[in-house]
Amino acid sequence: MDIVKAVGTRKSIRGFKPDPVSKELLRNILSIACRAPSGSNIQPWEFTAITGDVLESIRQDNARRYRSGATPAPERPTSEKLPGSVYRVRQVELGSQLFRLMGIARGDDEGRIHWRERGVRFFDAPAAIIISVDQSLETGALLDIGIVAQTICLVATQYGLGTCIEGQGVAYPDILRKRLGIPASKRIIISIAIGYPDWDFPANRIESTREDVDDITTWYGFD
Ligand SMILES: Cc1cc2nc3c(=O)[nH]c(=O)nc-3n(C[C@H](O)[C@H](O)[C@H](O)COP(=O)(O)O)c2cc1C
Repeated sequence: MDIVKAVGTRKSIRGFKPDPVSKELLRNILSIACRAPSGSNIQPWEFTAITGDVLESIRQDNARRYRSGATPAPERPTSEKLPGSVYRVRQVELGSQLFRLMGIARGDDEGRIHWRERGVRFFDAPAAIIISVDQSLETGALLDIGIVAQTICLVATQYGLGTCIEGQGVAYPDILRKRLGIPASKRIIISIAIGYPDWDFPANRIESTREDVDDITTWYGFD
């Protein structure tokens, strides 16, 4: 698959077939994605790949914590609160698209809770990747993490896999630390749910929108 097709084909997948993803395939994807650039080539990313019983126990812990009403405690800077901004408009549009596809009506609180619970359950993907960085690194390393995360998703596309980069998966870092032995010296940044897409799952029909490039680009010195 050429790179333009891969970028155009990748989309966030939120419903997966149960088919397992082999360690060999995930290892191959991660080793290719590690060709991603990073500032001064520091390669700050550290991966924890999870499947099977351990992933299932994390799903259950996350879901229980979410249902308890616990406040998420992400270890990366987030921009969840966006009142009155164009960013909020885009965020609301995404939510509306997903709820419409999933048949979750306005005012259906339990439907919304159930949907968010699916998020902390890694959308029931057969595998997930947690990306961490050493606590000694400044926030600049987060840019490198974003680059490698997208590279993983693009490489996965080549192998017919679907991905969703997910803040929800790492909303409760203490659960991941306990289940995966990730030490306090590492900052847990983001997760990627990964598996074979279930194309019959309604949310996977989403076509997220983008601004027109001419509205977000300033040109100087061109004809
Ligand atoms: C840093 C980051 C965190 C994200 N967290 C979540 C998440 O917790 N739950 C979710 O459903 N999607 C999450 N997404 C996916 C975005 O919603 C998605 O990328 C965006 O809507 C664009 O859609 P597309 O990926 O299908 O092109 C995240 C994406 C990024 C880059």
